[in-house]
Amino acid sequence: MDTQLIKQLFTEKFGTSYGVYASPGRINLIGEHTDYNGGFVFPGAVDCGIVAAINPNGLDCVRAYSIDYSADCQFALTADNLPTEGWAKYIYGVCRELIERGVDVKGFDCVFAGDVPLGAGMSSSAALESTFAFALNEIFEGKLDKFTLAKVGQMTEHHYVGVNCGIMDQFASIFGKKGCLMRLDCRSMEFEYFPFDPQGYRLLLVNSCVKHELVDSPYNRRRESCERVAKALGIETLRDAEFADLESIKSEISEEDYKRAKYVIGEKQRVLDVCDALGKGDYETVGQRMYATHWGMSCDYEVSCEELDFLVRLAEKCGVTGSRIMGGGFGGCTINLVKEELYDKFVAAVKSEYPAAFGVEPKIYDVVISDGARRIE
Ligand code: GLA
Repeated sequence: MDTQLIKQLFTEKFGTSYGVYASPGRINLIGEHTDYNGGFVFPGAVDCGIVAAINPNGLDCVRAYSIDYSADCQFALTADNLPTEGWAKYIYGVCRELIERGVDVKGFDCVFAGDVPLGAGMSSSAALESTFAFALNEIFEGKLDKFTLAKVGQMTEHHYVGVNCGIMDQFASIFGKKGCLMRLDCRSMEFEYFPFDPQGYRLLLVNSCVKHELVDSPYNRRRESCERVAKALGIETLRDAEFADLESIKSEISEEDYKRAKYVIGEKQRVLDVCDALGKGDYETVGQRMYATHWGMSCDYEVSCEELDFLVRLAEKCGVTGSRIMGGGFGGCTINLVKEELYDKFVAAVKSEYPAAFGVEPKIYDVVISDGARRIE
């Protein structure tokens, strides 16, 4: 990330001193669409993210510059003042959510840029929210704890972006720790760091470089399905449901809702299986669960697409230990657990076969598990 350019532009535009803050994107080994169902997730922060230079300006407004969009935006911090620029909505939302939690956010200037690939399912938006939540809490002496900062990001999505997401992305971006994955129980919010250094294996992401923007917010509709099933079962979230419970109400719910809940109940167990397997160094089981997650997300949760199914089949064909779609779905990346000796063969196969099938060049990223939100200067 070119921090130098951010600092230089800040100086040119505003000419004052500043603090520099950063927050990362995330991967998730397993536990997809479980967060808003009170289940478990297993994310880690990555070595790309958002970096922002920020300084209070003594005014009543925020003056922001996005290097990636080459665009300025100025807005007051008062309610009902949502900017029209997509990227500025996140900053405004974070400010409002902090203000509502008692932080005395005042006007500030900022210049920021990011290197999380957009639409890759690596949570560039959580990186943006976490950078500002963390920075503004520090600058304006808010004293909110890290969980509350993650919540600020999540509620920004709900209230200012329209995505009723769970807590995973913002949690990972705030709490990330170098070399560690985190198992978070999204009901109790208890979590544990798991040092992740699979000897003889590598984690890599294959970006399909497709993003299917589906009408009618498919993410929110998945969530609604889960909530309907939980309600039919008389429980708060699907965390408390077992397959037998689901079978017992099968005739009362739609076939679609049944499939959604079936996936979630299976996924809850898969995260626990993976934790056990990691403890024993049993990467074959980890990989097997990753494939199972993929096909659950594809056939039952229906958030995959042709391109991602192709990449997972290709991984399977190459003997890759585990592969699956990562993140919310509808495009983005697969996450792959690959034996060192197969790495080159798999990468070569992806680079030749994927463009041949879809006419799109995939991108490949080695996963480097890194630290969460922080001040860097
Ligand atoms: C998106 C959401 C998360 C989570 C994942 C799916 O990334 O922001 O809260 O639900 O999808 O696991």
